[in-house]
Amino acid sequence: MNTHKIALVTGANKGIGKEIARQLGQAGFTVLAGSRDVARGEVAVKELVAEGLDAVGIQLEVTDEASVRRAAGQVDAAYGRLDVLINNAAIIPVGDDAVSRIGLGVLREAFETNVLGLVGVAQAFLPLLRKADAARIVNLSTSLASFEQVGDPESRMSTVRTLGYNSSKAAANMVTVMLANELRGTGILVNGADPGNCATDMGGWSAARTPAQGAAVAVGLATLDADGPTGQVYAEEGRLAW
Ligand SMILES: NC(=O)c1ccc[n+]([C@@H]2O[C@H](COP(=O)([O-])OP(=O)(O)OC[C@H]3O[C@@H](n4cnc5c(N)ncnc54)[C@H](OP(=O)(O)O)[C@@H]3O)[C@@H](O)[C@H]2O)c1
Repeated sequence: MNTHKIALVTGANKGIGKEIARQLGQAGFTVLAGSRDVARGEVAVKELVAEGLDAVGIQLEVTDEASVRRAAGQVDAAYGRLDVLINNAAIIPVGDDAVSRIGLGVLREAFETNVLGLVGVAQAFLPLLRKADAARIVNLSTSLASFEQVGDPESRMSTVRTLGYNSSKAAANMVTVMLANELRGTGILVNGADPGNCATDMGGWSAARTPAQGAAVAVGLATLDADGPTGQVYAEEGRLAW
């Protein structure tokens, strides 16, 4: 039996997800690095293993129910439980735009990955999370999902015209709150992590923060003590306003 804690990170082949996998590995977790593309996942896992980390690749396309089911079955067979689930995989769909212009297909695509994908993964892995002593679920969030920030005309967030991303991530925040409510008293804590604007394919390579800085926010929430918060979104500087 594997005595290490087991963590699964979706979208761990690059960006913040790979850094979350690295930091959880450094903290002593066995890390299951989810990747929708097996080859891209293998490259990332090789890098982590070469650093001495206990990382294992797992094929996981969050919008594909069969892939999600298969991954959950593999984790069950290998470990019989899951200690940490990091729902990191997300997209800003190509063509994301202002409310007046966005194609409905583009909006649908954002929700398919960022909301339905998140809920599907959470549902599939909940039985395994319930088998762990004190599981933690972390859903990656963003200040672009904050009504307070996007609604403030003085904020840079109010100038961003990506309805698909912003609205799907706001819906993901509601998933975080509602799942936390549902699991209150079970020992499972569910929180959102806003990594801040980090230099990745999604964040743009001129962003001020490193993926490692962004990852640290999620890793902190993945390793909360039993008396830690649940149903909140945190950024590096503290609780994020809804
Ligand atoms: N970077 C920022 O500034 C920033 C700011 C706030 C919040 N965030 C959040 O942080 C998280 C990571 O962002 P990032 O900047 O690291 O993005 P990224 O570099 O674009 O990486 C996204 C990861 O998600 C995977 N992914 C996308 N759709 C998927 C699907 N359907 N199934 C499985 N995997 C999928 C990608 O896989 P492929 O390589 O196969 O595409 C990739 O591994 C996201 O939730 C994002 O919303 C980022």
